[in-house]
Amino acid sequence: MKKLILVNLKMYLNNKKEVDSYIESLEKNKKNFIVFPPAIYLSKFIQNGFISGIQNISAYINGAHTGEISATSVKDLGASHVLLGHSEIRKNINESDELINQKIKSALNNHLKVILCVGEDYESYNQNKTKEIIKNQIQKALKNVQEEIIISYEPVWAIGTGKTPTNEEIEDIVQYIKNMFNYKVKVLYGGSVSENNITKLNQIKNIDGFLIGKAGVTPENLKKIIEVV
Ligand code: 13P
Repeated sequence: MKKLILVNLKMYLNNKKEVDSYIESLEKNKKNFIVFPPAIYLSKFIQNGFISGIQNISAYINGAHTGEISATSVKDLGASHVLLGHSEIRKNINESDELINQKIKSALNNHLKVILCVGEDYESYNQNKTKEIIKNQIQKALKNVQEEIIISYEPVWAIGTGKTPTNEEIEDIVQYIKNMFNYKVKVLYGGSVSENNITKLNQIKNIDGFLIGKAGVTPENLKKIIEVV
């Protein structure tokens, strides 16, 4: 089975020139990964034929919700995927598991594919609480959700730090997550994946792909990652 490569561009590209140059550099590779650009540039990626998703959505479909973006409009624009529960959003807006659950339902109702991000902070990792945290996040986020989704295991302490768990640790968590589901759930790993460690991380036997942040912002590095995976 082909592994998935997802690139979360966060807010790294923030002007037209950078976006155009990124799109041009990756023209030949545009079907090899799913890109999550800053929302304001989403239509540009879609128009250029990139498989595209949004980094977050509103729990609501329409109405008086200033600054929010509905799943309906994202689908209508031509995007296919949505990232939900990313730790940066959980932290920045104090996003609860209950709100994530509402967003997941809204996304699925609008036929968007959901990638749910879960992961522990460094303190919990040190206290060996990773599984407990992840189980709780998944159960709450998926309350009364029947449809299939994708999970991305992203330890908070590994994001943007250059640190990663060992392959054995990731494999163990991935298996733990897979055992929670009654279907063949795809589980990705994210957190400091780069052109330098991808060869090693790619050896994890049960992994279904990677969610890449910073390394995906530089086309040359992303191409190296695509090559290896
Ligand atoms: P980095 O690859 O920059 O650590 O970010 C990972 C991430 O948060 C992807 O969603």
